[in-house]
Amino acid sequence: MYLFKNVSGLRAFLEPFRTKNRAIGFVPTMGALHEGHLSLIRESLAATHCTVCSIFVNPTQFNQQADLEQYPRTPAKDLQMLYEVGCQAVFMPTVEAIYPPGLDTSVAVDFGQLAEGMEGRFRPGHFQGVAQVVKRLLDIVQPSHLYMGQKDYQQCFLVRHMAQALALPVEVVMSPTVREANGLAMSSRNARLNPEQRKQAAIIYKTLQDAGAWIKQGLPPAEVQEKALQQLTIPGFRPEYFEIINGQTLQQLNEAQPDRMVVACTAVWAGEVRLIDNLILQTGS
Ligand code: PAJ
Repeated sequence: MYLFKNVSGLRAFLEPFRTKNRAIGFVPTMGALHEGHLSLIRESLAATHCTVCSIFVNPTQFNQQADLEQYPRTPAKDLQMLYEVGCQAVFMPTVEAIYPPGLDTSVAVDFGQLAEGMEGRFRPGHFQGVAQVVKRLLDIVQPSHLYMGQKDYQQCFLVRHMAQALALPVEVVMSPTVREANGLAMSSRNARLNPEQRKQAAIIYKTLQDAGAWIKQGLPPAEVQEKALQQLTIPGFRPEYFEIINGQTLQQLNEAQPDRMVVACTAVWAGEVRLIDNLILQTGS
């Protein structure tokens, strides 16, 4: 496995793959790796000739300074995990390498309504920061395949939208959410939960599943949302939103839409830790 800290080294390494038209898979991360990240790496390894994983805690996507400072950082363990899974290249750039002074890294894509709900509503500026870093990383790596997790459904959807809007020659692959045994979606932020919170957080996945059952029973989306918010309001937990959305437009459903893709998305504060999760309730026809 090769480790690159600057752009030119990584570019030189990838050049032979590019000239031979070999598929390059790219998995951007912010480190503190877990099985969810590794599942993306494995998917890339199985489908491409070379897999690049980046580890970069992107300051421009954090809307709270404290969240950025407290974001878990475990570089030695991350490298060990990537080596063991068989990843070929790791890119661990500095902030200056990603945002060199004088380089315009802003992204001119209008996400419109896609970025207005859910994470876009509660984390102002977050998706501009995500788009900025993903576009910059794509410019550097120039992969043929980009692997992203369904865990961050809206993020993956917006990145796909950006790739289409800018006509970037990359296929965005959405990979299923990996969960703990109790259903809690794996997340780097879970490291900040105490054992009791980690146990209780199983309520999030359970509520997403219940929402699926309630929709099936014919309950209107607004009522499902209300019941879900109630169920998630347990001591120490505070739901921020629970939305039943059309999976293609990301807009909230007003009524049942049996032939559409329907996704339940939620963000819940467990003490000081913000957790997000979602579940596809209907795949649509
Ligand atoms: P990070 O939270 O480290 O996640 C990196 C990738 O792993 C994302 O595509 C995310 O959706 C995926 N992922 C996280 N938890 C997962 C799980 N339990 N199962 C499957 N996939 C999972 O998302 C980011 O970093 C950043 O916003 C980034 C895209 C790297 C831009 O800075």
